[in-house]
Amino acid sequence: MVLNFRVWGRLLMKLQKIAFGCDHAGFAFKEALKATVLRCGMDAVDFGTTSDDPVDYPDFAKAVAKALVAGEVEKGVLICGTGIGMSMSANRVNGVRAALCTNSEMAALSRLHNNANILVLGARVIDLAIAQDCLRAFLETRFEGGRHSPRVEKI
Ligand code: RB5
Repeated sequence: MVLNFRVWGRLLMKLQKIAFGCDHAGFAFKEALKATVLRCGMDAVDFGTTSDDPVDYPDFAKAVAKALVAGEVEKGVLICGTGIGMSMSANRVNGVRAALCTNSEMAALSRLHNNANILVLGARVIDLAIAQDCLRAFLETRFEGGRHSPRVEKI
């Protein structure tokens, strides 16, 4: 049987393991987005937090970032109030390209042009529906390569 590029793409997408991390502000979004990933047949690894009790976002950013660079997961999703603290923290880890996105176009471009490997969202600045759109765009879009490759390598 000959499988076309789109079918292979979908199959590969399903094999992806996605790491999730959040702080108290991002907890509800994390639960909803993780459910979406599982519903789509992908695997989710949850690094917490597990409630809306206050915690420190760098702890969760670092856990997801380390799992990613260790090759335990293909991509990561981090959520805090604004997404700013999570992106600052995750991007301190060598090999991480964490993209703070506020719409699906940014999420798609973060993959196409920047080969982002962690999607960062701010639960206090966007609606859940927008966050779901960002997640879908992020997971469905492949890095374009070409002229973008040397730029990404320079990071
Ligand atoms: C928590 O109150 C908040 O500071 C955090 O979620 C995040 O927005 C930090 O960047």
